[in-house]
Amino acid sequence: MRATTGWQADSAGAGLRRATLERRDLRPDDVAVRVDYCGVCHSDLHALHTLADGAPPLVPGHEFTGVVTEVGSAVTRFTAGDAVAVGNIVDSCGVCTMCRQGQENFCREFPTLTYGGVDRHDGSTTMGGYSREYIARDRFAHPLPATLDPAAAAPLLCAGVTVWEPLRSLGVGPGTRVAVAGLGGLGHLAVKIAVALGAETTVVSRSTDKADDARRLGAHGLVVSTDERQMADARDGFDVVVDTIAAPHDLGRYLGLVALDGTLSHLGHLGPVTVETIDLLIGRKSLSSGGSGGLASTAAMLDFCAEHDITADVEVLPSTRVNEALDRLERNDVRYRFVLDMSDLS
Ligand SMILES: NC(=O)c1ccc[n+]([C@@H]2O[C@H](COP(=O)([O-])OP(=O)(O)OC[C@H]3O[C@@H](n4cnc5c(N)ncnc54)[C@H](OP(=O)(O)O)[C@@H]3O)[C@@H](O)[C@H]2O)c1
Ligand SMILES: [Zn+2]
Ligand SMILES: [Zn+2]
Repeated sequence: MRATTGWQADSAGAGLRRATLERRDLRPDDVAVRVDYCGVCHSDLHALHTLADGAPPLVPGHEFTGVVTEVGSAVTRFTAGDAVAVGNIVDSCGVCTMCRQGQENFCREFPTLTYGGVDRHDGSTTMGGYSREYIARDRFAHPLPATLDPAAAAPLLCAGVTVWEPLRSLGVGPGTRVAVAGLGGLGHLAVKIAVALGAETTVVSRSTDKADDARRLGAHGLVVSTDERQMADARDGFDVVVDTIAAPHDLGRYLGLVALDGTLSHLGHLGPVTVETIDLLIGRKSLSSGGSGGLASTAAMLDFCAEHDITADVEVLPSTRVNEALDRLERNDVRYRFVLDMSDLS
């Protein structure tokens, strides 16, 4: 084993504390990554809030960039010094129908999550990127395009790819009318990507506070979700509604925005939801979801973002301020993603 330093929660609500973490020694197909920047995703908050009594300590972080420091004996894709990015999936079975279709994120044996997952080989609980070093299977590390700023690119690996896959699979392009509900980490990247794909893009937000930002991000307009009149005017208006709202909410209101034969892609707060089938029936609407991305589509997303100069709007904080970042994210006080600078852990 090898020691590194990171930020861990010992129990739900306890806050994160600096701790020494044990990482595995490199397997033949592993790379060791010095983590430079790690994004703070709302899923990290959900995971911290739901940490069960007696569960292993939680080290969050599943969107990070850094530099390869060492490679296993069988690794040919990387050498020490390469800039890489790692997202929320770090292993999968590789042979199931999902993996064979390039959807490692939907592996039938369940993909190994970057934190709080179970390592396929030694059964250990994975610890995430809020740490100075991460050991990842080489296939699940992505070369980071040289033109992308490593801090602002980190959120592409969860927030970015999570919106990229549904936008792509739903055929979003020139002429598609897209609405993005919830302008946060996922939402602002959904806007940037949808706009770059050529879609006519609208933000749905709880107030007008983010209207200037929505326009700056390239959106054509903003619908205020708490204004019944505006919601009624926007009814049946969008081919694709990307729902990134981080709290439980009534899907019916957002299905109402979907156009004939259109789709509500529900990506945000997951868990059981109730849907009135009449909200699907009227307009032959579809309800879909998604999460993370396969290896090929993650690489395609990074290429696309490099080509279109897309990164997240970030506020970079030293990792010692991680608890402040989480508190402010909880209060919706970030535009639009916190990224932790891990250099203070060296
Ligand atoms: N499917 C996946 O694989 C996947 C991947 C990553 C994240 N997620 C989930 O996606 C959600 C968004 O993540 P994020 O990191 O983008 O979060 P975020 O930065 O906190 O953004 C969420 C946005 O939701 C809106 N919102 C928050 N509370 C709300 C409430 N009570 N009612 C209505 N709207 C509310 C806010 O937008 P406005 O201020 O504009 O209203 C907020 O900016 C989280 O639940 C996260 O766990 C899922
Ligand atoms: Zn995430
Ligand atoms: Zn599989």
